[in-house]
Amino acid sequence: MQAKITVLPSETIATINPNLYGHFAEHLGTCINQGVWVGEDSKIPNIAGLRDDIIQAFRKIAPPVIRWPGGCYADDYHWQNGIGPKRDRPKTVNVWWGQTIEDNHFGTHEFLNFCRLIGAQPYLAGNVGSGSVREMRDWVEYCNYDKPCTLAMQRSANGSPMPLGVKYWGVGNEAWGCGGNFCPEDYAAEYKRYATYLRDFGNTPLYLIACGPDGNKADWTRRFFKKLAGADQRFGCRIHGFAAHYYCGTAGTATEYSTDQWYELLHKAVGVEQLIVEQRAIMDEFDPQRKIGLILDEWGTWHPPTPGRNPNHLWQQNTLRDALVAAITLDTFNRNADKLVMANIAQAVNVLQALFLTEEEKLVLTPTYHVFDMYQVHQGGRGVRTEIESPTVSFAVGEEKRTMPTLAGSASIKGSMLTITFTNVHARIPIEAEIKLPAFSARDAELTVLTHADLHAYNLFDEPEVLSPARSIIHIGADTRMTFSPASVTVIRMKL
Ligand code: AHR
Repeated sequence: MQAKITVLPSETIATINPNLYGHFAEHLGTCINQGVWVGEDSKIPNIAGLRDDIIQAFRKIAPPVIRWPGGCYADDYHWQNGIGPKRDRPKTVNVWWGQTIEDNHFGTHEFLNFCRLIGAQPYLAGNVGSGSVREMRDWVEYCNYDKPCTLAMQRSANGSPMPLGVKYWGVGNEAWGCGGNFCPEDYAAEYKRYATYLRDFGNTPLYLIACGPDGNKADWTRRFFKKLAGADQRFGCRIHGFAAHYYCGTAGTATEYSTDQWYELLHKAVGVEQLIVEQRAIMDEFDPQRKIGLILDEWGTWHPPTPGRNPNHLWQQNTLRDALVAAITLDTFNRNADKLVMANIAQAVNVLQALFLTEEEKLVLTPTYHVFDMYQVHQGGRGVRTEIESPTVSFAVGEEKRTMPTLAGSASIKGSMLTITFTNVHARIPIEAEIKLPAFSARDAELTVLTHADLHAYNLFDEPEVLSPARSIIHIGADTRMTFSPASVTVIRMKL
């Protein structure tokens, strides 16, 4: 099969916001407890209770931002439960995720410490559903106020004399569902009330994020902004971000799928582009200068419950197919760097499309982790346009026949380095492509490929490198022919 790729370095899209490579960690199953957090007394090596191996591996992929404490959990989380001496913290029930008992040992300070150790910005999701404006404004004051008010002194007594400087604040989560079952108009009214009292302190201007739709629902977005803008088309309150959620879901199960189901899921992942383009277009009607950023603060695969695991804990295996979902999605973000400002994969550890799986002291880096590692070089780069002429592949979804291009990708330039990333979704056939780099003189390039002969391959605790990126050097010129293996993710990096 033949394809043609033309990279157009002079056709800039926008700077790729590093926050497009963001993360999400919720009190759900073993994401926090037994995942990120093992406690100071654990035999598992830790830094102040935080798993050392996760910290080290996370740091390597330069996580720009991480969202916490939920998810649905955010709208039933009361931050005061998670500060102060651990022995005094209440034991609460996690109503959303299996009614497990939460000891609140991982709270604001532990999360901020984790962010500091992995080098990510914190993004706190506030409680609108079961909380109050006062509770959330106090959380902001507790974290960010820089003079000795009572809350700042309490923060200091709890170990952080300096303000924590939290910029990103979500005003609830999934307001249309577990965040309070609002209609868009009621949520807009609620949002206004919250935004009025969430104030900037010291050197940390807040970035306030409103709840966007479930998937690409135009109705939620239009009605929310219509109500927020009022008749005079002025928002009358601060809003910096608007966050949709997009789960591409599943086809088959996490590890068992036919070739048609392989394509079906990858095709669903491709659907995120339509969301980004259409949601941004609706926002543009109200915000033509794009002062409000479109965010996707939850995305990823969501497979059926894994037999033998608590179905409320959303633990799933992560195969080569999940890696292709991640790569397709990140390439889509890069290509739409002018429309999207942040995205957070769901979730970091042991939940949904996790980057890390843990079992006692063992840790596995999933294929999705490797894609984040391979693609991190795009962060902060200048997205540039690529033209890809690719053969298509046909597949069946039930009775219906569908097609999708086999090859897709994105490109960026950072300093003097050009990075091009591709996926070949074809399950069996390599794609031979002609790569055109106009006005480019021949040189060596770094090639990194993630693939496997088995479409269902995944990393095991006892065999953690079934899937890991293979690196080599190739020679590339203005006009080069290259073969992309079936079911593969490829990164090419070279000096311009
Ligand atoms: O990521 C799991 C859940 O999915 C989140 O808690 C919720 O926001 C979404 O429905």
